[in-house]
Amino acid sequence: MGAQKIQKICIVGAGNMGHQIACSAALAGFEVKCTDVNEEVLQKAEQFVTTYLPERVAKGKLQQAQADAARKNLTFTRDLAEAAGDADLVIEAVIEKLEIKRTLFAELDRICPPHTILTTNSSYIVSSKIADVTKRPEKVCNLHFFNPALVMKLVEVVKGPHTSEETAQALMDICVSMGKTPVLLKQEIYGFLVNRMLTAIKNESIYLLDMGIAGHEEIDTAVTLALGHPMGPFRLMDLTGIDLTYIVGLERYQETGDPIYRPSPTIAEKFVKKEWGRKTGKGFYEYPQK
Ligand code: CAA
Repeated sequence: MGAQKIQKICIVGAGNMGHQIACSAALAGFEVKCTDVNEEVLQKAEQFVTTYLPERVAKGKLQQAQADAARKNLTFTRDLAEAAGDADLVIEAVIEKLEIKRTLFAELDRICPPHTILTTNSSYIVSSKIADVTKRPEKVCNLHFFNPALVMKLVEVVKGPHTSEETAQALMDICVSMGKTPVLLKQEIYGFLVNRMLTAIKNESIYLLDMGIAGHEEIDTAVTLALGHPMGPFRLMDLTGIDLTYIVGLERYQETGDPIYRPSPTIAEKFVKKEWGRKTGKGFYEYPQK
């Protein structure tokens, strides 16, 4: 299926990434259905959109008609079959657990029409670990957005050995239609481009912190002012979730045995204390809940 024929997009997983991808797609004019097994997560996602769109209008960033059209384009449902049954493209953004994704893709393969492209927004799991549960491996691919997805322009399109050229091209085109800038990775690699670089910076920053060389604020200031990053590594971990830093690091360490991935005591302690960053009100910094 070519990008020009993609009109209906289903987002599975209405969490932080999922609902912002859904909103981006709806703003770009696609008909979007967003689904999640968790009613509370789904309600929060809908609440976000209901507040976000009028706020953009009030800020002068969006016209009322655009906001109304986006809201009309976007529906929320707990029913996976209803959400994915007529989709041209599915973007999965559920928890980073391989078995959950494999089960979900097998179900999507049963539910979706034969032409539907199935993608995962996973930050680390390559689609070749998932594609074999479907009868359409050539239509399975990684499509990786960045947090916050409504703001960040980049999308990594990671072509697996099973992914057809046509699918990869359709995804590159669809990203452009969504106002994003895609980059194509011709081969799968753990962490893709951006998370590989981020992991290196994060690891070094945590090492410097744990060694007592500098505090997290000083390190953030250094990275922001000297390297020109919009936020330092500790603020960024607070944004993306320290729970994720811990879980992904631990899983990779268990998989490879490479100590570079072993979560540091600082990260492990924050994980246990539920100091996960913005989502829990405290991480390296504090975030008074509204
Ligand atoms: N959701 C939606 N929009 C947001 C937002 C959010 N969480 N946070 C900020 N924005 C919007 C604001 O509304 C504002 O929009 P306008 O200018 O159009 O009005 C704009 O972003 C700037 O916001 P602020 O002025 O409040 O703050 P800022 O200038 O400090 O920008 C930021 C905030 C966009 C998050 C910026 O600091 C930034 O780009 N940080 C780096 C983010 C980053 O590196 N992301 C990649 C993370 S790694 C990842 O995502 C990997 C993965 O696998 C998940």
